[in-house]
Amino acid sequence: MCGIVGYIGKQKALPVLIDGIKSLEYRGYDSAGFAVSTAGGVVKSKKAVGRVSNLELKIEEKDIRHGNAGICHTRWATHGGVTEENAHPHSDCKGELWLCHNGIIENYKDFKSDLARRGHTFKSETDSEVLAHLIEEFKTQDPALATEEAVRLALLSVRGTYGLALLDSKNPGTLIAARNFSPLLIGVGDGEYIIASDASAVLKHTKNVVYLDDGEMAVLTPKSHKIFDLKRNTINRKSEELTWDIEEAQKGGNPHFMLKEILEEPEAIENSIRGRIVAKEGLIKLGGILAVEEKLRNAKRILIAGCGTAYLAGKVGEYMLEEYGGIPVKIELASEFRYRKPIFREGDVMLVVSQSGETADTLAALAEAKQKGVLSLGIVNVVGSTIARQTDAGVYQHVGPEIGVASTKAFTSQVAILALLSVMLGRQRDMSVVMARRITEELSRIPELMKKIIKQSEAIKKLAKKYQPYRDFLFLGRKYNYPVALEGALKLKEISYVHAEGFSAGEMKHGPIAMIDKSFPSICIAPSDSVYEKMVSNMEEIKARSGPIIVIATEGNKKIEEITKDVIYIPKTLEMLTPLLAVVPLQLFAYHFGVLRGLDVDKPRNLAKSVTVE
Ligand code: F6R
Repeated sequence: MCGIVGYIGKQKALPVLIDGIKSLEYRGYDSAGFAVSTAGGVVKSKKAVGRVSNLELKIEEKDIRHGNAGICHTRWATHGGVTEENAHPHSDCKGELWLCHNGIIENYKDFKSDLARRGHTFKSETDSEVLAHLIEEFKTQDPALATEEAVRLALLSVRGTYGLALLDSKNPGTLIAARNFSPLLIGVGDGEYIIASDASAVLKHTKNVVYLDDGEMAVLTPKSHKIFDLKRNTINRKSEELTWDIEEAQKGGNPHFMLKEILEEPEAIENSIRGRIVAKEGLIKLGGILAVEEKLRNAKRILIAGCGTAYLAGKVGEYMLEEYGGIPVKIELASEFRYRKPIFREGDVMLVVSQSGETADTLAALAEAKQKGVLSLGIVNVVGSTIARQTDAGVYQHVGPEIGVASTKAFTSQVAILALLSVMLGRQRDMSVVMARRITEELSRIPELMKKIIKQSEAIKKLAKKYQPYRDFLFLGRKYNYPVALEGALKLKEISYVHAEGFSAGEMKHGPIAMIDKSFPSICIAPSDSVYEKMVSNMEEIKARSGPIIVIATEGNKKIEEITKDVIYIPKTLEMLTPLLAVVPLQLFAYHFGVLRGLDVDKPRNLAKSVTVE
């Protein structure tokens, strides 16, 4: 996702900034820019769409000789398209205050119209630029106000998340930083400081860092730093020594991106649903599909298409949208859909699901629908990707780049967005406010509940160790957790190269049960839901044939231990939301299983992150 680097100290700022921002390239981004102080007390800024190398092409010899303070940014678009205007840093009207911002200012529209009325002019469509003008406005209203105080007042006024670095042309000996639910740390060097959203950007210069906490600001000069909270309480925090190398830092200290991304799932869900639930009225506000809301009200059927894990998220969506959205749904493998002669009907809506937004088969399915004049929607993570551009409307996932080849946080985010969509469509039809509130309240709790599962990672690792000798696995689930069984099997096979098959547990008797014996374990997803008793019958059948069983069960269900001792407990939630929890232990199981086999889980053999060919 977006990356920030800021520098103040004895060196020329620009080379340090460019070097730092390059070490954040792994996070994915679509544009980049910098702003540096100059000897003349003016800030110089340049921006470019695309790679940092495009920005470097714009750097002239004289830029390198500019001042000793600056900020730099790589942007992963959220508000506004991928353009130079929308790239950071953003400035106020006078070009005096320059800032780089990670995160989302949720109520920026309220301020934007008010500031425009007061004569501020905006160059970009971003929420971040509004912050620059809001700080300027505080300074305009009270010209004696120090910039750090204007920043503090602005941050107290807005609602949202931020990692912030600010450069003031009138005071180039000072850099200001702030953090709220978006990481930011300060590298402490000898007569210099480097602010960064990620430790990889500071490691070349120093291993001493001070982490900012949420709701804190920092003011840096080349020789000193002070940290305080938004109530102006001073914070004395010692620096810590980083023990990571650059590659480890990019993984946030985790051994693999896959693990990092599983651990990020609670935050990913928060980012996917933030600002999209109007709790009081039980309504869902999805900005990207606002324009087609009326068409959705009249829609008669939804066709969902995707590949692999995205397809399986869509399959969970099929159950949700039919039960709660009150609309017939058909889920399609994009790779098959493109070669059938699909029959579209009046009132059909095509919904494609894709993390990368570039999957060739999914694009082909989308093209088929577009050619037939069907309204097309997308659930996509990568902003500005082909699918995002080609669909009529859509919802961005906002989970940041997924680097591990095996999709994890993108899956749960897609399911969460499908839950939002189900409530939205349901409310357009016959869902009561009470039911909508129940679902959205429970959805908002999911990040907390996920954290409880993540804490069991070591116990799951032990199970992965115990089951190492096996080379065949069956994954079984019913109803909402049937797609989760398929996803569990897909994760295990792609990461560990062992044979794993997912089935609807109801299909067991129709064939798969023939494989069961003591050498063929089953992983059963059996939360306490409407099909729990049926799952118990299936497990009894497996046990009767000496098949080892791991079960995912609901906390408090001790009775399940009469069937097997290998239980992973997940917290209780609404049945429709159990996939969001049940899939996490399966992802962790696949991860540990693969690592224990000594495999490169981030880059499984024969697979690519984005499948842009057929
Ligand atoms: C599995 C996996 C793949 C992708 C599939 C679709 O872990 O990552 O199955 O889900 O290739 O990719 P996107 O979502 O980019 O369209």
